[in-house]
Amino acid sequence: MSDVTNDSAKIVGQGIDRADGRLKVCGAAKYSAEWSLPRMAYGLMVLSSIPSGRIARIDTQAAERTAGVIGVLSHLNAPKLPKIPPQGRVLSLLQDDQVHYNQQPIAVVIADTLEHARDGVRALQIEYAKSVAQLDFAAASKIAYSPGKIQGNDADSSRGDVAAGMRNAVYRVSQSYSTPFEHHNPMEPHATVAVWEGDTLTIYDSTQYISGVKNTVARTLGVAPEKVRAVCLYVGGGFGGKGSSWSHVVLTAMAARHVGRPVKLVLDRPQMFGPVGGRPNTEQKIQLGTTRDGRLTAMTHDTTSYTSQIEDWPDSSAMVTRMLYACDNQTTSHRMTKLHLGTPTFQRAPGESTGSYALESAMDEMAYAVGIDPIEFRLRNYAEQDQERKLPFSSKSLRECYRAGAERFGWARRNPQPGSMRNGHWQVGLGMAGATYPTRRSAAKAKVRLMPDGTAIAQSGSQELGTGTYTVMAQVAADALGYPVSKVRFELGDTLLPEAPNSGGSQTVASVSPAVRAAALAARGKLIALALQGPDTLWRGTDANDLDIVDGWLRSRSDQTRREPVAAVLARHGSVPIEADGDARPGDERQQYSMHSFGAVFAEVNVDRDLGIVRVQRVVGAYGVGNLLNAKTGRSQLMGGIVWGIGMALLEESLLDKRYGRIVNNNLAEYHVPANADVHDIDIIVVPEDDRIINPLGAKGIGEIGITGVAGAIANAVYHATGKRVRDLPITLDKLI
Ligand code: MOS
Repeated sequence: MSDVTNDSAKIVGQGIDRADGRLKVCGAAKYSAEWSLPRMAYGLMVLSSIPSGRIARIDTQAAERTAGVIGVLSHLNAPKLPKIPPQGRVLSLLQDDQVHYNQQPIAVVIADTLEHARDGVRALQIEYAKSVAQLDFAAASKIAYSPGKIQGNDADSSRGDVAAGMRNAVYRVSQSYSTPFEHHNPMEPHATVAVWEGDTLTIYDSTQYISGVKNTVARTLGVAPEKVRAVCLYVGGGFGGKGSSWSHVVLTAMAARHVGRPVKLVLDRPQMFGPVGGRPNTEQKIQLGTTRDGRLTAMTHDTTSYTSQIEDWPDSSAMVTRMLYACDNQTTSHRMTKLHLGTPTFQRAPGESTGSYALESAMDEMAYAVGIDPIEFRLRNYAEQDQERKLPFSSKSLRECYRAGAERFGWARRNPQPGSMRNGHWQVGLGMAGATYPTRRSAAKAKVRLMPDGTAIAQSGSQELGTGTYTVMAQVAADALGYPVSKVRFELGDTLLPEAPNSGGSQTVASVSPAVRAAALAARGKLIALALQGPDTLWRGTDANDLDIVDGWLRSRSDQTRREPVAAVLARHGSVPIEADGDARPGDERQQYSMHSFGAVFAEVNVDRDLGIVRVQRVVGAYGVGNLLNAKTGRSQLMGGIVWGIGMALLEESLLDKRYGRIVNNNLAEYHVPANADVHDIDIIVVPEDDRIINPLGAKGIGEIGITGVAGAIANAVYHATGKRVRDLPITLDKLI
């Protein structure tokens, strides 16, 4: 089947309402913790209360005698799992008595009700033999080491001659920036339901990657992957935290096997702070040198982040510096150091969000040193190609983002002098920063079924993170088929469906939509071929190329009065559904081009002159993100990223008790994420961009670019308002007064 674009292609791009909006508003969308199965029991994870040592004694007898308790799993009785080479997350699965971090899973109590499980947990008696824990990042940083590679990229980079570039510089900036330890706080915590039927296992799990759940659980338990099915119809927020399968997923399966009943296990809010990842803190040293007229002669960006004792998980904050600005002389490095804390993980734009804060702050400092406008400074160092890979960009609209964003924001009214703009007792600041995120894509499969009633079902084993996958994929299928979108249903979230990749790295649309489109085009071709067959066809003698499908009707291109509903074609042929598969994968364009989204973020802040309170009055974000497949859900997603950026700039921080290795503010009352009162005007501009190199739909991902640049823009605005440069996130009032 040739890759025809339907004449009437028009549904993609429209800001149509969420397909699952009504279900969500009515509470009918089924989240993982909402599965209830016959005889289901309730599991609770018990977490260590020391950061380092071993479990000297665990007495489960009292717990086991507690009313309703039907089992307690600990290292004393947990089945020994096959030893597998570590790949992906190193899990805590009750295989020994060792404790490597506070809040490490050390037992599971299973009872007939949640309340009984809680009673059981309280009755457990645990004694520890403590050993010395390293919880001091500054001290541990003295023995930082290189991860070698970070997701396929070298941890270090070097081009040109930095020493010469620095010697030749007229202006120099050399500063350290730090970003805090953070934790994911989606509304929906992690939740798993596991049920064994004989030797087959079904797992309902809140996850960004159902195939990852299936394969992790199968490999870890030593079960054949085809015996494991993972289901996840909705995710109430993932943000990277649900991109990996953590210990509780496997522990729930172990618990269900142990008690011979389905088991539901839901993490409570404090348990989100330790055993399921978080954003590592970073310490970032940046040096810039420029000529008198503000052309970069040298750049260095050296970062250190923490990882756990059990797994190396490197941050990637300096990656953004390798490609964002033109500079011949540059070195970057990533180092990490081990603490007795849970392993960190991906958290919304891991690397780019933290790295762009440091880089864009340093760029702002340099613009002041040179004495030119921050946008002009960036334009003088505009990268026409990828500086590190020496490749052209598949598309880059950053100039247009600067222009359109500045215009909408009213940048021209900014008096560059720090502290010069006032509004009563508020100091007013305007700041800007660049945004960028890689355009990722992975292999994906899909299936499309044309039903006898004239509807279509498109399927792929992808995930709905609340971002609009159900909606956007139905739009893609509808356009390729020539069906109205109201007649197309998209199904996802089940490993029985064709396999799709992790909904992480902002890659779902870029990966899955080409597969859905390929399957839909193949189904459309089959339908047209079928229409021409049979003695009673009204299309006798018609050329297949003359047949089109528009709005659910077969139609002659040459004589548009001749048409027939698609359901009539299927009825003539025994009312049997038509099925077609689609398979899509990235090609060698990824070796020929550098692929990124770009944007420019503008922030206006008010800072209380006496109290140091910061209010973000306005954010304008202008983005080049390829083809936006749904104007409404896409805009929402970019806004959501900016809201996260406000949190990163001003609020979010996990406070570590350095004596015990616990997060003190492990709840939503004290771990602050932006609430309505923290979010004022957010204005999104998506500049037109037609990039047919990245994938057939021309869609770059938008899940993560929204947070990048925001903290930098706010920090720069705070400097402009107050003359105080805060190089340590979050920007809390104590740092301003
Ligand atoms: Mo994203 S942090 O890659 O889910």
